[in-house]
Amino acid sequence: MPVLKREQARDMGDASGLPKLPVPPLQQTLDMYLKCMNHLIPEEQFRKTKAIVEKFGAPGGMGEFLQKKLMERSDHKANWVNDYWLEDMYLSNRLALPVNSSPVMVFPKQNFKGQSDILRFAAHLISGVLEYKSLIDGRALPVDYARGQLAGTALCMDQYNKVFTSYRLPGPKLDTLVAQKSMVMPEPEHIIVACKNQFFVLDVAINFRRLNEKDLYTQLERIRKMADIEEERLPPIGLLTSDGRTQWAEARSVLIKDSTNRDSLDVIERCLCLVCLDEPSGIELTDTNRASLMLHGGGTDKNGGNRWYDKPMQFVIGADGCCGVVCEHSPFEGIVLVQCTEYLLRYMRGSPSKLVRAASMSELPAPRRLRWKCSPDIQTFLTASADKLQKLAKNLDMNVNKFTGYGKEFIKRQKMSPDAYVQVALQFAFYRCHGRLVSTYESASIRRFQEGRVDNIRSSTPEALAFVKAMANSSKITDAEKMEMLRTAIKAQTNFTILAITGMAIDNHLLGLREIAKELKLEKPELFSDATYATSIQFILSTSQVPTTEEMFCCYGPVVPNGYGACYNPQMDHIIFCVSSFRDSAETCSDLFVKTLEGCLKEMQDLCRKCNTEAKPADSTERREGTPKVMKNGNKS
Ligand code: COA
Repeated sequence: MPVLKREQARDMGDASGLPKLPVPPLQQTLDMYLKCMNHLIPEEQFRKTKAIVEKFGAPGGMGEFLQKKLMERSDHKANWVNDYWLEDMYLSNRLALPVNSSPVMVFPKQNFKGQSDILRFAAHLISGVLEYKSLIDGRALPVDYARGQLAGTALCMDQYNKVFTSYRLPGPKLDTLVAQKSMVMPEPEHIIVACKNQFFVLDVAINFRRLNEKDLYTQLERIRKMADIEEERLPPIGLLTSDGRTQWAEARSVLIKDSTNRDSLDVIERCLCLVCLDEPSGIELTDTNRASLMLHGGGTDKNGGNRWYDKPMQFVIGADGCCGVVCEHSPFEGIVLVQCTEYLLRYMRGSPSKLVRAASMSELPAPRRLRWKCSPDIQTFLTASADKLQKLAKNLDMNVNKFTGYGKEFIKRQKMSPDAYVQVALQFAFYRCHGRLVSTYESASIRRFQEGRVDNIRSSTPEALAFVKAMANSSKITDAEKMEMLRTAIKAQTNFTILAITGMAIDNHLLGLREIAKELKLEKPELFSDATYATSIQFILSTSQVPTTEEMFCCYGPVVPNGYGACYNPQMDHIIFCVSSFRDSAETCSDLFVKTLEGCLKEMQDLCRKCNTEAKPADSTERREGTPKVMKNGNKS
């Protein structure tokens, strides 16, 4: 196992031995900001912005003052940007969590042979969750180490502690991420099971003994029966959590006036996770449809009300085999979600269901249905939430595509970073579709630092623009020149990646400067009221690499109305792309984007093959030229 790098251990007594996130030099950030924006905005606007930035960064100016304050902040905080970042990225965002914020993992389709099969799967999964939780609690999870660029350094494990203990409480202007403190005498632990839009409390430890799989199965069976009693059904209160955060906060403030509701909310807020037993969706379970169903539950008339979006982990088990996890994003990143779900899938595969061998407790207390008192006001909120979720579901334009032309092995053979290559391909596809480049977000992990989350690799580099223009427009440019431009674009992207993962990217730093000015009640610096800054944080292309080693994929929605969410999962011989956009935007179309991307990847491969002898197919992992490729619809390309 790799050892902790010595330079990492240098810092200030933190138990993890990880260094603190550095505050980048001011001038470096300002220069990079100008370089990142120059080619994305009109010339005249850039001239104005350059003057504003120069004034901000001038000796003795506002920039220097704020930088000094940030350095002081960094002295007395484990991570100088975290609270600013959490608020900006998540807690102040008023949009509904489904589609807009919560990513999902989509499992391979399951083939359940009836109710008992479904409940057996659920009991096995819960058993795995309890195992995993005890590893987290016992600090027994092996430390993660960085792979890929600058591999080998230990990563911060802090995010794992929040997987089963956090809750995102809605607020009128700002949500709160509530973390359950570990106690000397732990509270009895429970899971909430959602079934037919009803919520049931499943205690997973009774009399200090954790329920075995047979107990869990017995309890799930009882829950299923209780959910079937039509006379006892209560309104689908979970729908409220799918609404905009301000609306949900408002509804919640009405809900808690009643003590029954208060008790029910309290139980949900303290649960480990949700297990959502979904009804069959009635639609064909293609990759794309499963992704959409996971993102919004199929809307109000399907399983949209069978959720509680504030809770970080919701395991969805659909009777039709549509399964996965819906994740509230504020406490941790997709990579941690992958680690957890991969553990669970391996657990379920490797440890056979213990239903037969284990003895069930003879007398288990019956699981409890959570009660709700719905005033007419709550009914009104519910109607509005239902309507909005339905619209959100209809508006999502999703396309999940397994690109089988080649995977990261081919790219590595070009001596290129697969991640940088895919990012350049995404820029190429965007340029082909829209004739320009736009501010792009690629998440870069900064878990090499104490309490590190992510920063942004701004992939729409000037070098990428030069390459995509050459590819898209000019036949006068030779292949050798195009290849050189591709190499330059990939180098620029790789360099940005290295800067970002070593804490030297610009987005967190600019956010820090902006927020500390606000905290000090200073007038907003012109840099942050400038139109260029607004453009710089309007992420029309929001991308993220979420690789998996199990058969599953991650996806999420766009972050702006006219944008794309593009999550990719590079494998040895293929790459899964999950592209999302909104149907009501006249500018975007996920199908077109994905088709264009396939073409761009192919053109880039052709270019590599023409210009680089090492790029010729060397093994069977790659399709040979001329072999027809079978498209998703079964046609041959
Ligand atoms: N030649 C040959 N091989 C190369 C290469 C080159 N020039 N450059 C890189 N490679 C190899 C790497 O060694 C690595 O090999 P491995 O598969 O054996 O580990 C592989 O290619 C992948 O490296 P690369 O494509 O460069 O990407 P990466 O793994 O370093 O990932 C980021 C880059 C930015 C995605 C990563 O650093 C990161 O931050 N990931 C987290 C993203 C995240 O948080 N997502 C979730 C958000 S919710």
